[in-house]
Amino acid sequence: MSHPMGSPVGTDQPNAARVYDYVLGGTHNFEVDRQAAEFMISLVPSTRKWVRMLRAFLQEAVRLLVEEGFDRFLDLGSGLPTQDHIHAVAPHARVIYIDIDPVAVAYSRELLAGNPNVRYLQADMKRPETFLNAPEIRELFGDERRVAIGFNAVSPFFTPEEMRHVMQALYDWAAPGSKMFATFETKAAGKMTPRMAQFLAMFEQMGQPFYFYTLEECQELVRPWRPDHRGFRPLVEWLGLPPDYITEEDREGVDLEFYGVILEK
Ligand SMILES: C[S@@+](CC[C@H](N)C(=O)[O-])C[C@H]1O[C@@H](n2cnc3c(N)ncnc32)[C@H](O)[C@@H]1O
Repeated sequence: MSHPMGSPVGTDQPNAARVYDYVLGGTHNFEVDRQAAEFMISLVPSTRKWVRMLRAFLQEAVRLLVEEGFDRFLDLGSGLPTQDHIHAVAPHARVIYIDIDPVAVAYSRELLAGNPNVRYLQADMKRPETFLNAPEIRELFGDERRVAIGFNAVSPFFTPEEMRHVMQALYDWAAPGSKMFATFETKAAGKMTPRMAQFLAMFEQMGQPFYFYTLEECQELVRPWRPDHRGFRPLVEWLGLPPDYITEEDREGVDLEFYGVILEK
């Protein structure tokens, strides 16, 4: 097929950022991505619902942070910066996106071409020491380190050690008053179903293991960041959705729950 941006890069393998775009209802994806996404949805049918809430939370959190005066955003594991990402919600803010995936980075630079307020870095978000001093950050943020950080829909990519490391490094780098919006995809400790096990095995096979934590583990892993006055809340609450929006079936037999939080230094 022809790609809306005309760049048939890496179309023989599914790509995480494009799979995510497809699940969000976007058009920046190929047949191979759609097949992978549909397979994931066949294993965990509630995927689409959760993923849409994740993106909606990103928008809500960015709006709240703009209202609080934040105009610099550093976003980890950004995926494709399509029209509902940070720079679209906060058009006057300076935004640095980061992703490890070269395909996502190449597409993103095309999508963002000509936008002077936005940079897209290729880096490993698990190794903040490799990008926190990047010239692009200084160029866009100057010396200002009171910033808003995005950690949205990325927590399952981290082992506990990696999560502690990234939280501490970001905390040390950011100025007091900085905030971080984050989501956490949780399940009950010890609960598993055959379909969920297959879902997790699929990520493992792609070389990108996926971890679900409990809420208590997440609360511990974000330290030394502290939740602001709103605390850890299920995404349905953040988004003002009816409490029965997520059904028992959507919890997939493992008590799936996705939380959002705005952390502060
Ligand atoms: C589920 S998407 C989240 C996209 C976006 N943050 C959002 O909320 O819509 C996860 C993204 O993290 C990226 N990713 C995974 N591991 C990464 C790593 N070690 N460093 C940087 N990006 C990574 C993937 O390539 C993918 O684009």
